[in-house]
Order: sequence, then structure tokens, then C-alpha cells
Amino acid sequence: MKTKTASITYKELDKETAEKLDKMFQKKNSMIEVNPSKAILPTAFRLIGEDILKLPIHESDVWLCSYPRTGSTWAQEMVWLIGHDLDYEGAKALQQIRCPLVELTSIIIDNHPNWHEESIKGTSVDLVRYNIPHPRYVRSHLPWDILPSDLTREDNSVKAKIIYTARNPKDMCVSFYHYCTLVHYLKATFEEFCEIFLNGTGPFGPVWNHILGFWSRRDDPNVLFIKYEDMKRDLPSIIRKAAAFLDKQVTDEQIGKLCEHLSFKSMKNNPAVNLEPIIEKTNGKSYLEQTKLRFIRKGEIGDWKNHMSEEMSQRFDDWSSKHLEGTGLNFD
Ligand code: A3P
Repeated sequence: MKTKTASITYKELDKETAEKLDKMFQKKNSMIEVNPSKAILPTAFRLIGEDILKLPIHESDVWLCSYPRTGSTWAQEMVWLIGHDLDYEGAKALQQIRCPLVELTSIIIDNHPNWHEESIKGTSVDLVRYNIPHPRYVRSHLPWDILPSDLTREDNSVKAKIIYTARNPKDMCVSFYHYCTLVHYLKATFEEFCEIFLNGTGPFGPVWNHILGFWSRRDDPNVLFIKYEDMKRDLPSIIRKAAAFLDKQVTDEQIGKLCEHLSFKSMKNNPAVNLEPIIEKTNGKSYLEQTKLRFIRKGEIGDWKNHMSEEMSQRFDDWSSKHLEGTGLNFD
């Protein structure tokens, strides 16, 4: 039986990268490298990394995995509702609690400690392990190699379902920049952020390693690979695909109602998914007005054109072509 590495190791970042990230995120020892994935994660990940790796997985679990800013909150809302027979009442509970990001503690414990302490008893891993009902709906931005060992066993003996969302990396980068500014107080120019995104030293680390780690498993029966751009262009088709994957029936009428719930306007104004209760708890109500930033921000394909120079765009294109060659994956 082929099993993957059942351990993770931590490595201090080299001095130059550490200083750059510490300055950008205004915090000493802000990040650490987590291997074998070369993932760059908040140092607090040390508190929960092993617990995540050893987390028992159930066959009925549904995991929504992604690099940040790929429309994963949007896809999670779709998947959770399909999986819960369109329980719109239940969907009024915070998404961060009803289908938690397994590594959430490491991401918010420093910047949003009050919300964390009040809302999550223990850590986000404890929440997934003990405090959400089965079948569990869980999210993660972690790369393949540092997810729970049971979830990623090569022999697929525990066949939990995995849905992966991917997005054009140029739009992902723009969106990630704004998100980091809003939630993690990033102080950097967009160009500086592009540099760390391109060289794999931004939060969560190398982008292509992440995407291709899941793309290479796209044909496994327990894996569904979804692109943000396809959700934008034809949400009803993706709803049908997700429902079939989850062994659920949805009527045309139900799809119509779900599309309304999932519309950009409705998601932007929905406190169960727009992160505003967490942000307001830490920063006060006026913060969102002052910064003019939003977690559910613009929701468009091609916003990179409003942010990237021609030269930077070309660098992204070359970088993407190099990594996509021969993989069969493409982004428009
Ligand atoms: P933008 O910053 O480009 O607007 P994630 O949930 O993985 O962090 O992804 C966030 C991105 O998904 C944001 O992109 C957000 O606006 C977008 N998004 C969320 N809900 C959406 C919806 N209903 N329609 C289109 N985009 C949506």
C-alpha cells in the first residue's frame, strides 16, 4: 500500500524572505515554511499542524480545498446548501463555524483573537473533530501534502469527497492582495505582493504546486475540480455537477433559488459568509467604511487588467505557461 509522508517539518525562512514578510505583515517571525509542501504559513500553524495531519477522516466528509481567493467561500456555500437539502435557515449560521477552515486558528488567532476565543472552543481542528455534525463539511487552503493523511492516502481507502476550486492566478493575486490588506494588515505595494506570489514566498507558498497537486487527482472518483470562471459563466451547470458529485437531486426551480442566494450581491450582503462579523468584532464597524475594502469584493473575471502593468502581466503569462505545459490545465 502506498502511503504519503506521515509527518511535516518546519523550517525557518531565510533571513531576506523573513525580513520582507515581517515588514509586509508588520509582525516579527510572521511566517514559517511547512514541508514537504514548502507552504508559507503563519508561525501559529505550529500549534495545529500535527493535529491536522492526524485528524481522523470519515467517508462521509466533504472537503472544499483551494488556494485562497479562488471563490472557495462561494463554492462552499453552494456545496453546503446542496449537501443540506437547501437548508437556507441553517445557512444563516456563520460559514466559518458550520463548515470551518481547518487551519483557521493559525490564520486568525493573532489578528482576531477575541473573535477566535469567543467563537471557537479550542482550535479550528477541535471544532472539525468534535463540534460539527456529520456529514462534516470542511474547508482548507492547505496544499495536498500537509492535509490530513487519511484524506490524501494514495490507496484512497477512506473515500471522503474533495472539491477543489481554482482560478486564473492573475485575478487570484489581485484578490489576495486586497484580502491580505483587509484582514492581515498587509503593508506592501501591489508589485511587491506580485513578487512574493510569483516566487512562491507569499502566504500559502508556491501556487502551482498547490493547483497541480489537486489537478493531477482530478479523475479520482472522489475528486471534483471546479474553476471560478466556470462558476461565473454558468452557475446552474456547476450546481448540477456538484449535486451529481454529492449524490443529490436538484430541480430547476431549486437551482434558480440557489443561484439567487449565491449571486454576488446576495453573498456580499450576507453576514454568514462575508466575514464582516469577524472583521467588525476586531476593528469596529467603521473599519470597513474607512478601508473601503470587502472580503466579497468585486467578483469579476479579468480585474487584473485594472491592476497589472503590461510587463507584470507578461511575467504572469510566462510563469503560468511554464507550469501548465503538458498538464492539460488552462485558464482563460
Ligand atoms: P474578488 O476579490 O476578485 O472580488 P475566496 O472565498 O476563495 O477567498 O475567494 C474570494 C473571491 O471570490 C473574491 O474575489 C470574491 O469577491 C469572490 N466571490 C465571492 N462570492 C462571489 C459570487 N457570488 N460571485 C462572484 N465572485 C464571488
